[in-house]
Amino acid sequence: MQGTSVIGPALGLWLLLAGLPAALAGPPQAAAPSLELPPKLQQALVDEMIAVNDGVATLPEAIVKADWERIIETGRMIERSYILNQRLSQAERETLVRSLPTSFKYLDRRLHEHAGKLARAAERRDGELVRFYFSRMLDSCAGCHAVYAKHRFPGYERPGTADHQH
Ligand code: HEC
Repeated sequence: MQGTSVIGPALGLWLLLAGLPAALAGPPQAAAPSLELPPKLQQALVDEMIAVNDGVATLPEAIVKADWERIIETGRMIERSYILNQRLSQAERETLVRSLPTSFKYLDRRLHEHAGKLARAAERRDGELVRFYFSRMLDSCAGCHAVYAKHRFPGYERPGTADHQH
């Protein structure tokens, strides 16, 4: 649907926003957090991450046991935990939309879409498709963390750049 038409420009922007500064800025600034959110919205992001992480942690066991109900429930939970669906005021929502880079919003939306598709695959008892969407979800986690969460997960630093840290 709408997703396919968005991929091209969003990926282009992603390279522009994320790739270029990391490549050009040199080590000291490269590790700086790329998101600057007011405390409440920063907390909303961390809350989203904790909810998503709890869900994702239960999936491998549910998948290998073909525990469809559990997979459906977890997929839907992750689908709903989308940061913009949280209880925020209209003004906070607008700040968030303005503060988050387009590529970040794109990656976040993809994660929640994949979680929804995982739930629907489980409804159809299609284990292979469930495993496919699970791996797509992990791609989203790693893809976003590698760009926006290096300050939190230094393992994403490329070899060589971390040497210049204090
Ligand atoms: C669109 C970007 C994005 C996606 C997608 C994403 N994350 Fe994150 N995540 C972040 C950022 C940014 C942080 C760092 C927040 C901070 O500043 O502490 C983070 C932090 C976290 C944390 C640490 C939370 C804490 O306690 O501080 C966990 C756990 C986590 N993510 C899990 C996941 C998992 C699991 C997935 C995939 C299912 C995922 N994330 C997908 C951006 C993302």
